[in-house]
Amino acid sequence: MADGNIVHVVGTGTIGEPLIGLLCDAKEDLEIDEVTFYKHSPVLTDRPKVKGLVNRGGNLAVREGKIKEFQELGIEPMYEAEEAIRRASVIIDCTPKGTGLMNKEKYYNKYKNKIKGFLAQGSEFGFGKMYAVGINDQAITPKDKFIHIVSCNTHNMAVLINALAIENKKNHLKEGRFLCIRRANDISQVKSFLPSPEVGIHKDIKMGTHHAVDVYHLYKTLGIELNVFSSALKLNTQYMHCIWYDLKLNKKITKDEAIQCFIDNPKVAVTHKKAANLVFSFGRDHGHYGRILDQTVIVLPTIHVLNDNEIIGFCFTPQDGNSILSSITATERFLFPDSYEEKLNVLGAFLLQEV
Ligand SMILES: NC(=O)c1ccc[n+]([C@@H]2O[C@H](COP(=O)([O-])OP(=O)(O)OC[C@H]3O[C@@H](n4cnc5c(N)ncnc54)[C@H](OP(=O)(O)O)[C@@H]3O)[C@@H](O)[C@H]2O)c1
Repeated sequence: MADGNIVHVVGTGTIGEPLIGLLCDAKEDLEIDEVTFYKHSPVLTDRPKVKGLVNRGGNLAVREGKIKEFQELGIEPMYEAEEAIRRASVIIDCTPKGTGLMNKEKYYNKYKNKIKGFLAQGSEFGFGKMYAVGINDQAITPKDKFIHIVSCNTHNMAVLINALAIENKKNHLKEGRFLCIRRANDISQVKSFLPSPEVGIHKDIKMGTHHAVDVYHLYKTLGIELNVFSSALKLNTQYMHCIWYDLKLNKKITKDEAIQCFIDNPKVAVTHKKAANLVFSFGRDHGHYGRILDQTVIVLPTIHVLNDNEIIGFCFTPQDGNSILSSITATERFLFPDSYEEKLNVLGAFLLQEV
């Protein structure tokens, strides 16, 4: 680990790029001395992205064997990949499924006594303790050097439960059912688009898809065992994930109370818009790199209460914004365990109350 607070992001994809951009832009308020990032493939079409991140203040790291290829593209790397890992105070891995775990085995474990903390994203189940800001902060201890930031839809489901069913740390959820209606791919991706809706299978015998499994394990870090089940399908759209929820509580609730629970939750945005493209384009206009950092956008007119205790409705998942907020929160906590919360005020502008 070199002197100063150095945050190193591995991966410049859908989540890595806006995360690096935000860390660079908010560096001063976050008291980060240097942001470094690892770019895997020397690709001509990625040149403007890399140059843009360097112009924002990020320092590029690449594998030794690829330095020449990057130079041929007119990009001058500053560090070799492992050197950048070694120098870092905190590492945020934003690579595809399985790569974070591989990196942990090959590199991160080697430096775990020198580096303050390591984070990996959604699909890296098993990387470390699961975390979503505002949900299980009290479950994270100084011993947790490896943190798994849960996926965007897990953040969304977790905050629905938090807002409606958790009161003074007590769980009032009798049963939660979720349908994750997912976008086929992100607007930044060309692969995996779909010609039509595609339904998912229920791989987990008790909880359906991995979304409920993940939210179950997230709450388990708090000692809460949820009764949850999820299904998923992908739609032929690139805009936003949407979730249909049905939460049955062991106490009475009115529609007005349910609405107030959402309005009172600082990580929740509410909207009267019913179309994903309108919510998405609001994020494009008012977010950072088009991202708002809320954990969910609740569609108020869809909230329905059945039998005085069951809340049903729709919400949108602000793509990767919620994972970015949890990633930066966990990073600041590693760097400033006693004062991280005040440094996060700089992100307040992207945590909207209404969309
Ligand atoms: N996309 C979202 O909305 C979202 C939301 C929440 C969480 N997540 C999670 O975030 C993680 C990354 O997702 P993403 O959507 O950002 O993926 P992505 O767009 O495919 O980007 C992946 C990045 O990883 C790099 N990479 C690929 N192979 C690598 C290797 N072997 N070593 C190091 N870097 C490598 C790629 O670099 P090159 O392009 O240079 O090859 C690329 O920059 C996943 O765990 C995902 O579940 C994503």
